[in-house]
Amino acid sequence: MGTNPLIPQVATIQKIVTETDSGDVKTFIVEMDGRQTFSYQPGQCAMLSVLGEGESMISICSSDSRKGPLEFSIKRVGRVTTALHEAEPGHKIGVRGPYGNAFPVDEWTGKNLLFVGGGIGLAPLRAVINHCLDARDDFGHIDILYGARSPGDLCFKRELRDNWPLIEDVDVHLTVDESDGNWDGAVALVPHRLEEIAPTSANTVAVTCGPPIMIKFTIEALKRLGFTDSQIVTTLEMKMQCGVGICGRCNIGGRYVCVDGPVFTYEQLRSLPAEY
Ligand SMILES: Cc1cc2nc3c(=O)[nH]c(=O)nc-3n(C[C@H](O)[C@H](O)[C@H](O)COP(=O)(O)OP(=O)(O)OC[C@H]3O[C@@H](n4cnc5c(N)ncnc54)[C@H](O)[C@@H]3O)c2cc1C
Ligand code: FES
Repeated sequence: MGTNPLIPQVATIQKIVTETDSGDVKTFIVEMDGRQTFSYQPGQCAMLSVLGEGESMISICSSDSRKGPLEFSIKRVGRVTTALHEAEPGHKIGVRGPYGNAFPVDEWTGKNLLFVGGGIGLAPLRAVINHCLDARDDFGHIDILYGARSPGDLCFKRELRDNWPLIEDVDVHLTVDESDGNWDGAVALVPHRLEEIAPTSANTVAVTCGPPIMIKFTIEALKRLGFTDSQIVTTLEMKMQCGVGICGRCNIGGRYVCVDGPVFTYEQLRSLPAEY
């Protein structure tokens, strides 16, 4: 990357995968142009820019443990994300980063892992899930619980169906808020399904990402299941502008989410004002 972390580098969209039936989430497979390299760790983000539209902070959802292009799963919500959704393979975008901290995977060696995701919140989790699966022997049992509003809103269906469940000692649990008639899986909100599955808290790290309301009730469910604050890890999506601790847009108390986060243990969050 260039020496100035605020200057975007040029990259090319190679491929676009539509994730949801409504098309509101697409995964962009992106190659840096020229000889540029882009090293990152699971949990980190990048600022993507579209000329004339602006910039958006997006989690890197590819895994650093695999060689290959960068991947970003993006939900269309406003100006920049709509411009990205209207782009086609071959279009140039700007990429700056990586920004933020990473999931502390080295501290998880020998532990069971429980991933709890909702909606587009599976994007940052996908990076760390694939990182851990690529070092499968380093961890104990792995549970992946993922929910969406409807079956058509589930992202990364191929990995959820054909890849992750086939790996030894990995259980994938899917749930939807509302069935579509063809769905034969669970119909329950993610925190309710979590309590039904009731994974052990013993020697387990729980990693969660999703809408704020889901995270709130997921943390309450985890506490009832015996997880302590330091066993719960989450990643925050505060609004961001600079991404490097200059503009002050993303602060919680004295901490900047773009620099000190976005990954925090619940123990760390408990010591901050409840502004997230
Ligand atoms: C660390 C981090 C990681 C993120 N990872 C992803 C990701 O992997 N995939 C993804 O789709 N999105 C992700 N986001 C959210 C993404 O940055 C915003 O959705 C995007 O910037 C919106 O830009 P826009 O111009 O399209 O929308 P705008 O026109 O700016 O806003 C449209 C609507 O979205 C709301 N909004 C904008 N930004 C945010 C935000 N950060 N959180 C909640 N609501 C917001 C606005 O209030 C408004 O209602 C992440 C955000 C952060 C901070
Ligand atoms: S986004 Fe500017 S300080 Fe965090």
